[in-house]
Amino acid sequence: MRDVKPATYKLTVHINDQVYEVKASNNETLLVSMERAGLSVPSSCRAGGCGFCHSKLVSGKFSIAGADKRRLADAKFGYIHPCVTYLDSDMEIIVLQAK
Ligand code: FES
Repeated sequence: MRDVKPATYKLTVHINDQVYEVKASNNETLLVSMERAGLSVPSSCRAGGCGFCHSKLVSGKFSIAGADKRRLADAKFGYIHPCVTYLDSDMEIIVLQAK
């Protein structure tokens, strides 16, 4: 949980050939929002370090909890770690390693 004025955004999630729309709070991570919506999405460390959850950002603004632990190439080419990423706007992502 982070200290921001509560807001709800639309999170559009591409998993394989499916597209899902999730109502997501800015007070929970993208990973938690997707799990709460019943989506099967990859995770392991849930702390931003392993990269197992890394997903491609299509559009949207975000904040990262704590230090940004993404590889430089991930950050450069627009990949995020949903386990430590919070929405600051509507967002669209592509989940790469769906179970
Ligand atoms: S689950 Fe390890 S970086 Fe997200």
